[in-house]
Amino acid sequence: MTTRDTLFSMVSEPAAETGNRVTIVGVGQVGMACAFSILSQGISNDIVLVDVMEDKVKGEMMDLQHGSLFLKNPKINGSKDYSVTAGSKLCIITAGVRQREGETRLDLVQRNTDVLKFIVPNLIKYSPDTILLVVSNPVDILTYVAWKLSGLPKNRVIGSGTNLDTSRFRFLISQKLGISPTSVHGWIIGEHGDTSVAVWSGVNVAGVRLREINPSIGTDEDPENWKQVHKDVINSAYDVIKLKGYTSWAVGLSVASLASSILKNMNNVHAVSTYVRPIHDLDEEVFLSLPAVVGENGVTDIVKQQLNSSEHEALKKSASVMATVQGDIKY
Ligand code: NAI
Ligand code: 2OP
Repeated sequence: MTTRDTLFSMVSEPAAETGNRVTIVGVGQVGMACAFSILSQGISNDIVLVDVMEDKVKGEMMDLQHGSLFLKNPKINGSKDYSVTAGSKLCIITAGVRQREGETRLDLVQRNTDVLKFIVPNLIKYSPDTILLVVSNPVDILTYVAWKLSGLPKNRVIGSGTNLDTSRFRFLISQKLGISPTSVHGWIIGEHGDTSVAVWSGVNVAGVRLREINPSIGTDEDPENWKQVHKDVINSAYDVIKLKGYTSWAVGLSVASLASSILKNMNNVHAVSTYVRPIHDLDEEVFLSLPAVVGENGVTDIVKQQLNSSEHEALKKSASVMATVQGDIKY
């Protein structure tokens, strides 16, 4: 008799599966910020880490496991072998290279496409009904690449997109108004990157549209230069990368909010990268962020925002930049 046998009288086998397994591929700064946000908020109690660097993935796994006492007794596994990911409800891809100072997200496209060519078939092999959530950059283009490589329906392949930019936008406006970001309503859509679109026509606090108070808000004619807020959103990643080398915490929290909507079937509206044709007359086969309803089937509806003509033009520009870059990818 072992100590365990003496201590317990067994009644039945414990359940083998949690049903809410989340795999995170890439245990770099972004992957670990996602893992930490998801675990610390109790969004999933079953996390699998995967990376090509065997020691690093083991070290990260052990480090998180040692915090189990302070979490909700999660299962934390890690390997470079994809068999450990089997049955994942959600697979988050954060692997690949990041921008060095001065590089744009689009500069990473071919290197990270090559990374996805290995990762996506392995994830689908073990979790054929999963939802893929792409975070690696350039996220909109890599979401398209992941959709093509996976064979999944378009609702199950999502890019974290401008969920992060929208958070930056609402934070920066909230600072100018002296209120909480949750009380500022506004959206950044389009590319997660340099051609993102600020929907100034809809920015509001308690239903009061700022454009009704300041008709030139967000334009070059605005004496208060609110347009700078959107420029600051675009520059956010460049600024943080210059200061600390990478961005991590905000994207980790942003991804955790998406994981929560998916795993808990919350039907929250998030700005995520999704297949946009033919909404807003977009005719290219691209993924871009629009406000979308997100639940356990992934994206179920896209909100048809009432964009004004300059917002619509800017969104079309975002789509055409994506299509051009996509056309040059070598598979
Ligand atoms: P990092 O360099 O810290 O980590 C990348 C990890 O990917 C490394 O651990 C590396 O070993 C792993 N990796 C590389 N090839 C792999 C493969 N074939 N299979 C499994 N793992 C592999 O980079 P960081 O800072 O974590 O950034 C990761 C990605 O996330 C970058 O593309 C970055 O641009 C992007 N990012 C996206 C954001 C968004 O809002 N969409 C925000 C911040 C970063
Ligand atoms: C970010 O916006 C670099 O895409 C990354 O933080």
